[in-house]
Amino acid sequence: MKKDGLIYFDNAATTFKPLSVINKEMEYLTQYTANAHRGDYNISFKVDDEIDNTRDLVSKFINSKSKDEVIFTSGTTESLNMIVFGYFKYHLREGDEVILNKAEHASNILPWMALQKEIGFKIVYAPLDKNNMLSLESIKNSITRRTKVISLAMITNVVGDERNISEITDYAHKHNILVVVDAAQAVLHKKIDVQKMDIDFLAFSAHKMLGPTGVGVLYGKEDLLYDMVPTVYGGGMNIDYNEEEVSLMPVPYRLEAGTQNISGIIAFSESINYINKIGIDTIERKEKFLRKYLISELKKLGYIRIYNESSSSSIVLINIDGVTSGDLGLYLNTKGICVRSGKHCTKMLKEEASFTDTVRISLAFYNSYEEIDVLIKALSNLGEIRVF
Ligand code: ALA
Repeated sequence: MKKDGLIYFDNAATTFKPLSVINKEMEYLTQYTANAHRGDYNISFKVDDEIDNTRDLVSKFINSKSKDEVIFTSGTTESLNMIVFGYFKYHLREGDEVILNKAEHASNILPWMALQKEIGFKIVYAPLDKNNMLSLESIKNSITRRTKVISLAMITNVVGDERNISEITDYAHKHNILVVVDAAQAVLHKKIDVQKMDIDFLAFSAHKMLGPTGVGVLYGKEDLLYDMVPTVYGGGMNIDYNEEEVSLMPVPYRLEAGTQNISGIIAFSESINYINKIGIDTIERKEKFLRKYLISELKKLGYIRIYNESSSSSIVLINIDGVTSGDLGLYLNTKGICVRSGKHCTKMLKEEASFTDTVRISLAFYNSYEEIDVLIKALSNLGEIRVF
């Protein structure tokens, strides 16, 4: 739900929550608040069933082979950290190579940098092309016989380019390289099929797909999940323990220690139901039209610098010469328009891109052409912007 009159173009940061999601969270909080896997009473069984239902919906949504391959986390950041510190910490050695690129969000660079300090492997940044995009060619040229993993976003959060994941996993697997995919910016906008795309690990957040904050997903192929060492120990993840050892529950539970965001996980089911009802294809089509319209209207103004015209996602990156991105964002705020300005948590991109700070307009299917018209009207008042 949104406040009347507010125009929300910061969907890459988080999305609005439909009433059905809010009501579902309220239902848990008011009707069957209990912990999971712990009680011998009906409302606790109900909680287990509801969590299981969300896991099942997520599994079908990304087409995982088994719902046990779906681990609930607090968000993409935690999922990526678990992959790095729960799996790769035990599978990388000094001298190995990890391929990243400088268009990645901090959460897909900083955990690798931290582990690199412990282990001493090498991070290779695959160069971006002149449009700040990552080609398969660049990845191929960065691979050596020491490469063990490629970790990349399916859609980047600044440039908004979509990477061809199937093509990348196909090539990587022929060279025994694992592929980690950050799908935070993709899940609401593009179909993800982890089996068809042959993805080894996938991370995403519920809040960027109409769901609650504080809920994320870590998907991994089952054998890889069993090869992970939990990064968090506690209740719910062990079968038994004594002074000597702990025996772990099967996946997914061994990677879900402690009480999770139960209300959020339960409400997440309704965001998936909502998306399924509309259909990812319909969402993708609508966003494509909105993007096309936005770009054509921005171009008509004649003085807007657009940095990512060749991207295909719903992110449009702009600046006006002589106006800082921060000032432009604050000016738009005075018109009731929400955009994000700055580096958008992607602080290495400036080392390769021609820009540093930008204004990011990120659309979602629920935005309208009329809202774009209001934005264009606000941007057309160059005099007002310059004295803001
Ligand atoms: N990762 C989110 C963004 O790009 C917060 O805005």
